[in-house]
Amino acid sequence: MELMKKIWEMAQKDKKRIVLPEGDEERTLVASEKIHKEGLAEVILVGDSEKIREKAAKLGVNLEGIEIINPETSEKTKHYVNEFYEIRKSKGMTLEKADKIVRDPLYFGTMMVKVGDAHGMVSGAVHTTGDLLRPGLQIIKTAPGVSVVSSFFIMMVPDCEYGEEGMLVFSDCAVNPNPNAEQLASIAIATADTAKALCKIDPKVAMLSFSTMGSADHELVEKVRKATEIAKELRPDLKIDGEMQLDAAIVKKVASQKAPNSPVAGNANVLIFPDLQAGNIGYKLVQRFAKAEAIGPVCQGFAKPINDLSRGCSSEDIVNVVALTAVQAQNNK
Ligand code: ACO
Repeated sequence: MELMKKIWEMAQKDKKRIVLPEGDEERTLVASEKIHKEGLAEVILVGDSEKIREKAAKLGVNLEGIEIINPETSEKTKHYVNEFYEIRKSKGMTLEKADKIVRDPLYFGTMMVKVGDAHGMVSGAVHTTGDLLRPGLQIIKTAPGVSVVSSFFIMMVPDCEYGEEGMLVFSDCAVNPNPNAEQLASIAIATADTAKALCKIDPKVAMLSFSTMGSADHELVEKVRKATEIAKELRPDLKIDGEMQLDAAIVKKVASQKAPNSPVAGNANVLIFPDLQAGNIGYKLVQRFAKAEAIGPVCQGFAKPINDLSRGCSSEDIVNVVALTAVQAQNNK
């Protein structure tokens, strides 16, 4: 696929250190070898070193050039425990509790990213989205100027005239159950920046609703309208418009009737859903009915990149998410 090829090339140009805390997981081990071989990132596996080496040997995976860190024996653990305690003490954290929590590879990996020992983290082949996001939200937190961490999917729809020849960016489809207007505005801005940085497109952001430019009145519509205003005010340099229905966003003929003066309607390539029910259902509809490839969910808005995998992921998926995370780390200012 063309886009993933470009992302690999970007990752290869400036190799970043990416930590994989599910170090003894089979697909992760297979992926690690490939990531190293392709020069996509410097891989760090976290876990019981002996178990990791045993599993790798069984799978015939060559771990040469791949760093392995065991939280139980690492000289860094004490430092991470102290740092974690400092970050969370106002929330009731004690040093004793911190010592236990940081030995969990997900927390250990997140602390590596926090203190700069790694540039990014990828996990989720065995853990749930919440398991991964919680340490990220507690420790890494949001980037300056960003109010919420959210996620995006790059949708590649075959034989499709909409978006950028069938490529569209959808958000938020995986993290925030019910964002308020300010949070929705933040999601729209973050997704526009992501579309520019990763997909290299000029983002045209549609704030989706069941109403187009005042055709219906309801508190749900009002939220999207307010979010659009906030986003426009915060980032006048971006093309963001709404509220609008999906057809007005992507179909030129419908846009010319419903929103003739919009710089986005009819040409949208970034779709912002009003809540997680709409977003999650929306991307799955396109994925299943239109047989679209859905790359993601990729997280955005963290101060440093952390990404989730589906538990049904393949080792190829892990390789691709690591490449994406490495490129996000390159763009991390
Ligand atoms: N952005 C920034 N910070 C956040 C966010 C966010 N989106 N959400 C929570 N936080 C912060 C909180 O303020 C809190 O900070 P603090 O502890 O420093 O005060 C911390 O993160 C933990 O917050 P909680 O409310 O305790 O976390 P919660 O248990 O609600 O978990 C989570 C947050 C995991 C993101 C939750 O909202 C969630 O489960 N979302 C849905 C995930 C999901 O199931 N997605 C669908 C499946 S994915 C798919 O289909 C592809």
